[in-house]
Parts: sequence; C-alpha cells; structure tokens
Amino acid sequence: MRKGSRKDSQVKNILCIGAGYVGGPSMAVLADRSPDKKVTVVDVHAGKIRAWKGANLPIFEPGLDKIVKRTRGKNLFFSTDIPGEIKKADMIFVCVNTPTKAFGHGAGYASDMQYVEKTARMILQHARSETIVVEKSTVPVRTAQAIERILRSGATEGKQIEVLSNPEFLAEGTAVRDLEEPDRVLIGSRETRSGKKARRALADVYEQWVDRERIVETNTWSSELSKLTANAFLAQRISSINSISALCEKTGANIEEVSRAIGMDERIGQKFLRAGVGFGGSCFQKDILSLVYLCRSYGLNEVADYWESVVGINEYQKRRFVQNIIEHMFHTVTDKRIAVLGFAFKPDTGDTREAPAVYICKRLLEEGARLSITDPKALENARTDLEGIDQDVTYERNVYKAAKGAHALLVLTEWKEYQALDFQRIFKGMEKPAFVFDGRNLLDPAVLAKIGFHVVPVGKQEKGTFPLIDRSES
Ligand code: NAD
Ligand code: UGA
Repeated sequence: MRKGSRKDSQVKNILCIGAGYVGGPSMAVLADRSPDKKVTVVDVHAGKIRAWKGANLPIFEPGLDKIVKRTRGKNLFFSTDIPGEIKKADMIFVCVNTPTKAFGHGAGYASDMQYVEKTARMILQHARSETIVVEKSTVPVRTAQAIERILRSGATEGKQIEVLSNPEFLAEGTAVRDLEEPDRVLIGSRETRSGKKARRALADVYEQWVDRERIVETNTWSSELSKLTANAFLAQRISSINSISALCEKTGANIEEVSRAIGMDERIGQKFLRAGVGFGGSCFQKDILSLVYLCRSYGLNEVADYWESVVGINEYQKRRFVQNIIEHMFHTVTDKRIAVLGFAFKPDTGDTREAPAVYICKRLLEEGARLSITDPKALENARTDLEGIDQDVTYERNVYKAAKGAHALLVLTEWKEYQALDFQRIFKGMEKPAFVFDGRNLLDPAVLAKIGFHVVPVGKQEKGTFPLIDRSES
C-alpha cells in the first residue's frame, strides 16, 4: 500500500551517515516514500559509495535495487563529502556500525563506540544550528547523552542541536518490507519543549507512509533500551527452542511438533521458534553482550548472567552440531569432502557476519575435512571469512558440483532453492554412506532416506538405512 505525502514538514534535506545494511535500505525507502525530501547517504568507505552509485549495489536485499533505481539521482544521492553534506542537512541519521569491542576495557562485551563518537565530532564541526540528530545505530543506553555532550561542547556555542533515538528494527532479507510496513517506529527524545518539537519533526517524516498509531514516542533511554531488549528477547526465543531441540534428540520428541504445539498458545506465538544451528547475524550476539556489559557496569550481575546464557546456549548449539557430524561419520572427518549448502546467516542475504557457518566450517577444517562451499549470494563473503585457512576449501556456485564426491551435505542456510534440488542425482555422485546434516530442518528426512541418504536433522530423530547412533529410548 503506497501512501502519498500527508504532511509538509520543515525537514527538507535529510542526511544519513553510514551507507551499510541499515543506512542504504532505510534511506532508499525514505526517499521513495517522501518525494519532497532530498536524501543523501554518506560514508567514509569510498568503494561502498561507488557501489551504491553503480549497477551492483554493495548489499543484496530483495526489492532494493528497484527502489534505488527509481529514486537515485532524483531525491536519493550518495556521496563521500561528509562535511559538505552535514552543512546542508536539516536532519542527520547516524547509521554507523557499533560492533563488539575487540580490545581494551570491556573487550568482548562492550560496544565499540568509536564510530559514533567520530560521527558526533564531525557533526559538531560542520552542522548548522537547529539540525536534528537521529541516532539509528544500536547503542548502549544513555549514548544520546554522550552525543549531546559532544554536540553541546565549546565549539557549538549558540547552536541548537537535538538528539533523538530512533532505533531500527529491520531484519535482513526482509528489510524493504520491514521498512515500508514497520510493526512500529520508535522515537525517543528528551521531554523538553525542544526535544518534543524535534520528535514531532521526525514523526512527521515517518507519517508520510506509516500510520500514526504505529509511531511510538518515549523518553530517550526507554527507546535505546527497547532496541537492545527486542533483540535480546528474539535471540532468547531461539536459544530456548534450541535448548529443547537437544532434549528432543534424547527423548524421541520432535522439535517441530513441540514448536507448533506451544506456538498455538497465543501468549507464546508461532514466530521465532525454528530450531537450527544457532542464530547468526551482526546484531543478536553483539547486542546481548552489550546488554550484559551494561548490567554488569550497574552491578546487576544476576541480570547479566541471565542474558549471557542466551549466547552460551547459542555457542553450545553450534558446538553440538559439529560434534554430531563427527560422531556420525565414524568419529573422523579427516580427508573427507563435505559439501556446505548455505553460508549466509539467513536466506535472502549475502551477509555472513557471525553466521554459524563460519564457526562450523572452521571447526571442520581443524578436523582435517575438505570443504566445498556453495551459497547463492554469500560466496565472496565466505572467501573473506575463511581467508588464510582455506587451502582445503573450494567455492562452488553449482550445488551439484559442490556435492560431487562428498561424504556429507550440511544445510546451514535455508535457501528455498535447496528444496527443489534433484537429490537422486546428488546421491548418485556422492561417496557412500551419504550423510545429510540438516542444520535448518529444511529437507524432508523421509524423502531423502528413501533415496538412500542417512539424514540427521536438528531436534528430530535421524532417518536412514543404519541408525548408527540411537538417540532415542523408543
Ligand atoms: P554496516 O557496517 O553495514 O554499515 C555501517 C557503515 O558506517 C559502514 O559502511 C562504515 O564505513 C560507515 N561508517 C563508520 N564510521 C563512519 C564515519 N565516521 N563516517 C561515515 N561513515 C562511517 O552496519 P549496519 O549493519 O548497517 O549497522 C549499523 C547500525 O545499525 C549498528 O549499530 C547495528 O547494530 C544497527 N542495526 C543493524 C541492523 C542490520 O540488520 N544490519 C538492523 C538494525 C539495527
Ligand atoms: C534481527 C532482528 O530480527 C531485527 O528486528 C533487528 O533489527 C536486527 O536483528 C538487528 O538489530 O540487526 P536479523 O539478524 O537481520 O534481524 O535476522 P533474523 O531474522 O532476526 O535472524 C537472525 C538469526 O536467527 C538468523 O541466523 C536466523 O537463521 C536465526 N533464527 C531466526 C533461527 O535460528 N530461528 C528462528 O526461528 C528465527
């Protein structure tokens, strides 16, 4: 459903700093839905900006290239002139990365805030008075205060700059739909007159295509914390169902039947109850660890431990998957060819950040396996992730070639096209016994077992010709 412009806002020039998975798609949709605004996206990474201007966008998102094509050059622009664009902006979205800190104080838990801080300092230097700064990156609670302090420090005397929190909830692979029809848009501000005025200006921008009832206004700290909490709750559901999948394998219960049965309770709901090899992606783990760090820094150790266990179960699930492979394949994978179907952390994206495939492939290489990796969109990223340790890896676009001569297939991403493969043909080309370790419960074990495969799903009984490991009592 496409809505026309409803409000004539004072905000005309919108700038986004950070042209990544959030900045690119969110600004493309904003430009598409707000033809009266000029939207510019800047980045320090010149190559990325070149790619946004070219035929091959730097990220793959279904539907995104069509939107970029119809807006680019009209009211959507990409640039590396950060100071020049900051000077012109009425509203600046901050969409830079906030990865887990890899060094020094808080390493392994805290968010690395250097990119947010550098961005704030650039804004301080170049912004006009009355500019509204919108924090869209996911940040620890009270980051807006730190940004405000920088923006209100000496050099900006006389400048009025408001800082809003407007966390992004899009998921990769469905980013365009999530942005066009968001469940909610969250805007946090100070409860001052100028804070509320800035909040209204941002709400006006969204109201051009989002229903008013879906725009939630809160104080700044609630908004920042809600983002971390939403990701923690989503990840917690996955760890919860994955923990039960281990018990299913021991008891003869079936995780899909359990998910369906509990999900029919409206209070629980059906979404995010798919067991698998664990959650990946750039945010769940990082945001939970950031929450854990925040809790510990306030002395809330029990709360920190509770949330940290969600990441602990995710690690366990990945380890368990590898152990299962080794045990089933006669306790050794050394010199065996293993075909990896899917490397992206989820389908419909080429993103491999924190993908379970990275850990699983590294572990199998340590065990001496030879891997042939295939993925419709993530092969380039896979190459980068395994660089330096991939002497025994081949990267194959064609699944049939990847599977040829393999002892086992691993399904690590639930790409739809894998369901339509000719498994009879794949089976013929494989070493026997031919194993399938379906880390996403994508394939029908009964069909594959009939062909001759030995199938090991997650949280369900294995199926095949020789039940080597009887995981059930029944
Ligand atoms: P990303 O790494 O894809 O993009 C961030 C971009 O910011 C990079 O291109 C980087 O070059 C640029 N950048 C860094 N410092 C800069 C500076 N000083 N000036 C200009 N550009 C600079 O990251 P992302 O996945 O888009 O995530 C961005 C933020 O949004 C993170 O805080 C993340 O937690 C959050 N988020 C991500 C998603 C997602 O699906 N990826 C969803 C919701 C929220
Ligand atoms: C997630 C959230 O869904 C977004 O709301 C949030 O904005 C985003 O993180 C972020 O802050 O970056 P994303 O990581 O892109 O989005 O994708 P999800 O669909 O949430 O999947 C995350 C991981 O969980 C994937 O590896 C997926 O395979 C796994 N997953 C998901 C499961 O294992 N089981 C499920 O039932 C659902």
